[in-house]
Amino acid sequence: MAIKLANRILVVKPSATLAISTRAKEMMAAGIDVVNFGVGEPDFNTPDYIKDAAHKALDDNFTRYTANPGIIELREAICAKFERENGLKYKPNQILVSAGAKASILTVLMAVCDVGDQVLVPSPYWVSYPDQVKLVNAQMVVIPSTVENEFKITPAALRKACEESPSAKVLLLNSPSNPSGTVYNREELIEIAKICIEYNLLVISDEIYERLVYDDTEHVSIASVLPEMYERTVVINGVSKAYAMTGWRMGYAAGPAHIIGAASRVQAHATSGINSITQKASVVALNEEDDSIEKMRQEFQERRNFLCGELSKIPHVTLFKPKGAFYVFPDISWYLENNNKGIKDCGEFCSLMLETYHVALVSGAAFGVDTAVRFSYANSMENLKKGAQRFAKCLEDLRS
Ligand SMILES: Cc1ncc(COP(=O)(O)O)c(C=O)c1O
Repeated sequence: MAIKLANRILVVKPSATLAISTRAKEMMAAGIDVVNFGVGEPDFNTPDYIKDAAHKALDDNFTRYTANPGIIELREAICAKFERENGLKYKPNQILVSAGAKASILTVLMAVCDVGDQVLVPSPYWVSYPDQVKLVNAQMVVIPSTVENEFKITPAALRKACEESPSAKVLLLNSPSNPSGTVYNREELIEIAKICIEYNLLVISDEIYERLVYDDTEHVSIASVLPEMYERTVVINGVSKAYAMTGWRMGYAAGPAHIIGAASRVQAHATSGINSITQKASVVALNEEDDSIEKMRQEFQERRNFLCGELSKIPHVTLFKPKGAFYVFPDISWYLENNNKGIKDCGEFCSLMLETYHVALVSGAAFGVDTAVRFSYANSMENLKKGAQRFAKCLEDLRS
């Protein structure tokens, strides 16, 4: 008889973004010209100055176990980054380095959530949040937003969620947002912060896309907006997105020492910290940044402008021009309500797009909004053009 799995894992779904990418790759391997908008990673190579540091670490035989929360040089480099870029002062014992921001969030959730605690999550949300919340046996409470409000939650919606959630302990905030590209400004964050203080919430603030903001958008960390917020925020960040280092696996959490200490104990019994070479490379990534990082940001901005320009020409598509990250999240409700091909939801629409029009998109349902689809513009201009044309054609065919 097969061994029964833990209840904890039975409720966890496979990642929707990985599923679409896998199918797109299968089709590509079969020789089909698929435009893959499913991927959530920069298409650039890791800059040379970072790779050189990794080579050096290997040549220096820096290959043994390191301190579980991260080597002191790296935690100091992260503290310096917070002071320089966010005006936040942390000490190394307030920093935990983990294998990617994804692991940082899960480790912090494990350290703070008890069975039944409620975690408030604005929607649209990053695909992993619901399953991470389930993995720690907590309960997710979704706070909806609308495209008309740039996919931002309102203070009234947050207050309502707090009123209705007696076990609310954490607000899991993501700005700049994946999938919507929304970026909260300082005033909006102050309003959210006041409610978090009133209802005694910890904010886990996922700022992994901090460096990828466009035009005159400023990234502000909620930890910095009111003095009381510093004590009730854990900031999550890492090198994956801004430094094109997704495969290196380096993310970090910064916050009150007792929370970081607890998360560090979780990690000590799980992984003993991240690989030594990545840590040395990350020190150099943060301390010796060259102009390659800003060039990648500019390239993303151009791609965003191009893709949004193309998508905004399509009738009945509601588009919010993202202010950060590298995704566009157009709403296609009109087409779901007005087509005679029997397409009723975004999942069906994405299957049609992939199988017939050879474009991989991610259904908004994976992000809690079943009327939108996610494009990743971490893609060449040529692909953006081709993919946008195929998307427009599919929608046109649905109308006829
Ligand atoms: C909102 C958000 N948070 C965290 C992560 C995880 O990043 P990392 O590669 O550092 O684990 C991602 C990656 O897609 C993301 O989109």
